[in-house]
Amino acid sequence: MSLGIRIDAGTRDEPKKFRRRLLAWYERHARDLPWRASRDPYRVWISEIMLQQTRVAAVIEHYHEFLRRFPTVEKLAAAREASVLAAWSGLGYYRRARMLHAAARVIMREHGGEFPANEEGLRALPGIGRYTAAAIASIAFGEVVAVVDGNVERVLQRMSGERLVGEQLWTAANHMLDAKRPGDFNQAMMELGAMVCTPRAPGCLTCPVVELCATRGRMNVGAKTAPQKKREIDYSLHWREENCRGGEVFLAQRARNASLMAGLWELPENFDAENRRSAEPWLTLRHSITVTDYTVRVWRIAASSRSDGKWIPVDRLQRLALTGLARKILRKAGALATENSLQGHGGTE
Ligand code: ADE
Repeated sequence: MSLGIRIDAGTRDEPKKFRRRLLAWYERHARDLPWRASRDPYRVWISEIMLQQTRVAAVIEHYHEFLRRFPTVEKLAAAREASVLAAWSGLGYYRRARMLHAAARVIMREHGGEFPANEEGLRALPGIGRYTAAAIASIAFGEVVAVVDGNVERVLQRMSGERLVGEQLWTAANHMLDAKRPGDFNQAMMELGAMVCTPRAPGCLTCPVVELCATRGRMNVGAKTAPQKKREIDYSLHWREENCRGGEVFLAQRARNASLMAGLWELPENFDAENRRSAEPWLTLRHSITVTDYTVRVWRIAASSRSDGKWIPVDRLQRLALTGLARKILRKAGALATENSLQGHGGTE
């Protein structure tokens, strides 16, 4: 190899040493995460897609509930899209949930309900890219193929002392990979990046491979953060009590072809400056989306003659695919139970 990475440049034994130490550390220190109890490709797939968009703690909450509702790929394929999106809500980025659903249908229709058992076959499924295919193939099927995510990238850069990019990262990861335990090795690399070789203040003192590392905490790999923009936005919360228990709220559905959050439900925007001039908003909250910090004002309005939405009974909100912001507002408003108060209640599909 001509990558010039230190783990390669010393004795021939260094990758071997690296694997041995990393795997021994992983066996002792790996977090006991629910999806690690299983090699079932369906479970591995669901966890990997969820982990791509949010923190481990949030994934744990949603993982159990999602599997309770859709315990097999067959059940997922047979579900209505709206149910899948509702189960996904809280995880954000619904396109992934749509792809998950589409892939389940392809697996049922074209593969007789069996997952393709290698990276190449997996990559042909909707929503499965190089990382996800390699993760499922190695963890569920033992295929000797490395993963590269943000954590692995950082570990490889620090170990080598080089700003490896693109294909160089995949080559380096595959070079280091343990051919006998590729699934464990891949997870150990990600775990090391998440728990020890963290972006800021890496824990070199507890790192199992520090002696093989070219930089030992001296390499700054923190991404520059873009300055946040500030925006203000106003919404109307129309809530009428008379028709059913708990009342109904008036929500609008985003266009099916919208580029963001297509088909999800949200509160109608309040463009009416007259409404707002005199009074204080009923609720003010902050919400950040990528590079923008929003100040969100919510105006409580008794009833509506609008035609751009629908009255939704409050007791159906939990099952509706809401935008993250709508969920947050409705929780604050008391129209929707908070996540904690729901724990242990389950729900009915
Ligand atoms: N991040 C994403 N998937 C992971 C896994 N399987 N183990 C550790 N960290 C991960």
